[in-house]
Amino acid sequence: MGERVAEMLLPAPKMIVLRGDLGAGKTTLVKSLAAALGAAEVEDVTSPTFTLVHEYRGPKVKVFHLDLYRLETERELLTLGLEEMAEEPDALVLVEWGEKFPSVMARADGEISIENLGGDERLFLLRVK
Ligand SMILES: Nc1ncnc2c1ncn2[C@@H]1O[C@H](COP(=O)(O)OP(=O)(O)OP(=O)(O)O)[C@@H](O)[C@H]1O
Ligand SMILES: [Mg+2]
Repeated sequence: MGERVAEMLLPAPKMIVLRGDLGAGKTTLVKSLAAALGAAEVEDVTSPTFTLVHEYRGPKVKVFHLDLYRLETERELLTLGLEEMAEEPDALVLVEWGEKFPSVMARADGEISIENLGGDERLFLLRVK
């Protein structure tokens, strides 16, 4: 992915929900985005399934990568400090499984839906408010 494409998502919107079935390619997209923004090497971006949030700092942008799959309540969500992350001036917050929480969808600036079309083919739909 080109840096220009990645920068289209900045400085606003800041919080993007990544939607798609298990294994659709959400984490893989974050790898490409973080690499394009110079925030991390592709192989250093791993799924925050258990840690819930990973942070990568690039020259212009700080990428927060969240996976809310294992999170169950809005109360747990509050302790993550999602709002504080999104308020950082140079943050791009990418949230897997954010659609589980109405509060995340209400706060999000946009979403990228990923559909696995089979093999290496993926359909990406980017919607920004
Ligand atoms: N664009 C792509 N082309 C080919 N393979 C892909 C692509 N995106 C993802 N994959 C493959 O699909 C598998 C699952 O991808 P990934 O972990 O990114 O999915 P995910 O949507 O984050 O899943 P989860 O909901 O479990 O977090 C990986 O083995 C990855 O290599
Ligand atoms: Mg994932």
